[in-house]
Amino acid sequence: MDKIKIHGGRVLEGKIFISGAKNAALPLICASLLTDETVTLTNMPMLSDIKAMNLLLEQLGTQISEFDDFVDGHATKTYSYRTKSIKSLVAPYDYVRKMRASYYVLGPLLARYGKCELSLPGGCAIGARPMDIHLSSLEKMGAKIEIRNGYIYAESDGRLKGTHIIFPGVSVGATCNVLMAAVLAEGRTVLENAAKEPEIGDLARMLNDMGAKIEGIGTSVLTIDGVSSLHGTVHKVIADRIEAGSYAVAAAITRGRIELINARPETLRQPLQVLKDMGVRIAETDNSIIVDAKGCHLVGKDIMTEPFPGFPTDLQAQFLALMLTADGASMVTETIFENRFMHVPELLRMGANINVHGHASAIVRGVKKLSGAPVMATDLRASFALVLAGLVAEGETTVNRVYHLDRGYEKLEEKLKGVGADIVRIKNDEED
Ligand code: EPZ
Repeated sequence: MDKIKIHGGRVLEGKIFISGAKNAALPLICASLLTDETVTLTNMPMLSDIKAMNLLLEQLGTQISEFDDFVDGHATKTYSYRTKSIKSLVAPYDYVRKMRASYYVLGPLLARYGKCELSLPGGCAIGARPMDIHLSSLEKMGAKIEIRNGYIYAESDGRLKGTHIIFPGVSVGATCNVLMAAVLAEGRTVLENAAKEPEIGDLARMLNDMGAKIEGIGTSVLTIDGVSSLHGTVHKVIADRIEAGSYAVAAAITRGRIELINARPETLRQPLQVLKDMGVRIAETDNSIIVDAKGCHLVGKDIMTEPFPGFPTDLQAQFLALMLTADGASMVTETIFENRFMHVPELLRMGANINVHGHASAIVRGVKKLSGAPVMATDLRASFALVLAGLVAEGETTVNRVYHLDRGYEKLEEKLKGVGADIVRIKNDEED
């Protein structure tokens, strides 16, 4: 397995181009199943999760074409998806096991073909992550759902029926899945307590461009008037707010200055405010955010994760690493997932001072220095937190299990090297 080696201590300076958002692209790819026309997605990030989703759609019968493209002078990918006829309505265990987001095929397949068999995703490194909200909502729309032998069998007798759904908890995945089902349902669906993450807005806007009738985009109440068919479209994936937030922390933790090209400040209000409160200078231009921590003395700040527009759980690990380099104590509270402090034991091995209380909160105290060590993490964002710690640690840090990073950070070493980091990937088969 590949490893990443970092020699800490460099002050990062320069520009980083922010890629298209993984968590927007994954449901957008699945939304292409809702039409027999071509859906073209531009500004697609080159990530292993995108490849995994493409493989799943190909086995369902989607024809996919890949093109090299440029967005603002930066190399990206464009993919075209066309599902003229379906070969299979099954999302098998081997696909879902590798990538939970495979469950985004459920809503579209049920809506267009009246049937879907989906391997039930299990828990994962960050929590139990059930699908009860997705399933009970689809049942309210008339789907018959059974769970047997580890699979969800969902069927609908004719079109799904529009109805009024009040989600019992805020779920990004359930909101996307039910939204994709509702656009082809008969009549009006109202979704209350819907998640408001920018990735959902991106999905809803593309669906409207395909002929759907969705109102309330960006709010917690979505009203959808079902239509009988959708058409193709060309859509540019929004910039990845979590990637942008992660590199903002890279600037802050090394007391450097990075301009995040294409980042969208309106999707990052809370994290940017936390950085400002800690003492980092933030400026916004037409197409970028400038994060400047040169010469700054940072102070700790409490954070608590919440659904958007609150502080994102996907930036908790990175900010926790940053708090280690700030003065004083910071309380980090995780309210979305029940097991999202798996980076802490590894950071402790690098000399961190962190006390985790139960599963929900951690007290982080600033330390004089971190020291390099071999480390590994169990998920994507935790792995990035270890990279961040490595950037300021004394000596060498080796981050193992790089496949986590490859799921969500496009050209990670290239981007960090471009702003001055001493970072290198050691390929599995290379001499170490
Ligand atoms: C999405 O996961 C993201 N994944 C996650 O990104 C992100 O951490 C999460 O939203 C929260 O923002 C993708 O977009 C592909 P949820 P999702 O449904 O949709 C509970 C990353 O690093 N819940 O909003 O699975 C659930 O257990 C990641 O890129 C139920 O109880 O998250 C959790 O505690 C990882 N029943 C909470 O709701 C359900 O039916 C929020 O989960 C559904 C969810």
